[in-house]
Amino acid sequence: MAQIDTLTPVLSDGWDGDRPWTLESYEQAGGYAALKQAFGMAQDAVIDLVKESGLRGRGGAGFPTGMKWGFIPQGDGKPHYLVVNADESEPGTCKDIPLMMASPHTLVEGVIISSYAIRASHAFIYVRGEVLHVVRRLQRAVQEAYLAGHLGKDIHGTGYDLELTVHAGAGAYICGEETALLDSLEGRRGQPRLRPPFPAVAGLYASPTVINNVESIASVPSIVTNGADWFSSMGTEKSKGMTLYSLSGHVARPGQFEAPLGITLRELLDLAGGVREGHELKFWTPGGSSTPILTAEHLDVPLDYEAVGAAGSMLGTKALQIFDETTCVVRATLRWTEFYKHESCGKCTPCREGTWWLVQTLARLEKGQGEEHDLELLLDQCDNILGRSFCALGDGATSPITSSIQYFRDEYIAHFEQGGCPFDPAASTLFAPEGASV
Ligand SMILES: Cc1cc2nc3c(=O)[nH]c(=O)nc-3n(C[C@H](O)[C@H](O)[C@H](O)COP(=O)(O)O)c2cc1C
Ligand code: SF4
Repeated sequence: MAQIDTLTPVLSDGWDGDRPWTLESYEQAGGYAALKQAFGMAQDAVIDLVKESGLRGRGGAGFPTGMKWGFIPQGDGKPHYLVVNADESEPGTCKDIPLMMASPHTLVEGVIISSYAIRASHAFIYVRGEVLHVVRRLQRAVQEAYLAGHLGKDIHGTGYDLELTVHAGAGAYICGEETALLDSLEGRRGQPRLRPPFPAVAGLYASPTVINNVESIASVPSIVTNGADWFSSMGTEKSKGMTLYSLSGHVARPGQFEAPLGITLRELLDLAGGVREGHELKFWTPGGSSTPILTAEHLDVPLDYEAVGAAGSMLGTKALQIFDETTCVVRATLRWTEFYKHESCGKCTPCREGTWWLVQTLARLEKGQGEEHDLELLLDQCDNILGRSFCALGDGATSPITSSIQYFRDEYIAHFEQGGCPFDPAASTLFAPEGASV
């Protein structure tokens, strides 16, 4: 196993430089050299390099990126598309937006190399529309790249053409689900598509399409520059490379921490100055609100896909939301559930109706109006959503509920025993699980 005790700034390396978002700064720091290098390689060799590096998608599911690219049929005579998923709307997830703000050219360069590899002549960045500042920054970076000849016709005399479109979504969480994103990009209401056919065969405009997260694509230039062995020397056996961990909530120094996969929350908290002074860790999400919560007993779980899975959760987007003992877990869970209810696209019954019922039951419990039987009802409702919904939004909605009942059942019971939220920060250690000190 490679070292996991230090930060490894690669994507975030130039973020504190002088106007790092400009083409000038980016090129001064060696930007677009990887593009030149990639153009000197056969397209399949670029795909093989990404496969060998072990890069896995950073959008949540951790699917091997090179393998995904390899699914695109070649010589089929159809247009191919690359779509970058920059919708980033999961509660707690906040890594792609800083990346695009600080260094949009890392993404643009990654887009050109990745499009070249899969023989796409049109790429799209689907960005969350509410973040207008990011939309503008991306548009400017794309314009600069066109003016420098990195985009357009016959790029740098290679004979390769690529158009890159920045498309702003309208602010629906479901449009981050890759097939809903494609429908939205085509101008329809964003709702997930039935699979098969998979996007690699029939994606955007029914043509072969690769959809990748911002961070996945932004990692490609560094892999081209430094090689597959360099990338795979970081991380753990099956989770390779460096990645952005986003620490938010009750932490002394919240922010982005770029480290090898496999670092632990304990190590990250050390780097981030710990839980805010005078408080202790109560619960946390490893990868946004769709991933089951964990507690202080999981501080030493390596933050890679396998170990977090074995601990009963998912690495997801590595959005580490930290909650101390002043937080009522029932209220936090209700907030998240209201989000899923609001964002349910309505296509399938278990999620459309189920998330509504989850909110009703949880709200009753949170007000102290429930009874023990409501906990079983809540778990039964989750059981009827999990695995029965059309897409992962429904499954994700159940994660905070089932996991919070698993770890904090007593806190739920205390709500209805006391006829209201018993939460008193002064007495909050009552609800901290055993060993909950950092
Ligand atoms: C409800 C929902 C929202 C999602 N939102 C995002 C998102 O904002 N960004 C993202 O990259 N992936 C998101 N995903 C995952 C995508 O469907 C897809 O797996 C990902 O973009 C693939 O990229 P990757 O292989 O590089 O990780 C979401 C999935 C679901 C079910
Ligand atoms: S699970 Fe929810 S978001 Fe997904 S298709 Fe069904 S209703 Fe829509």
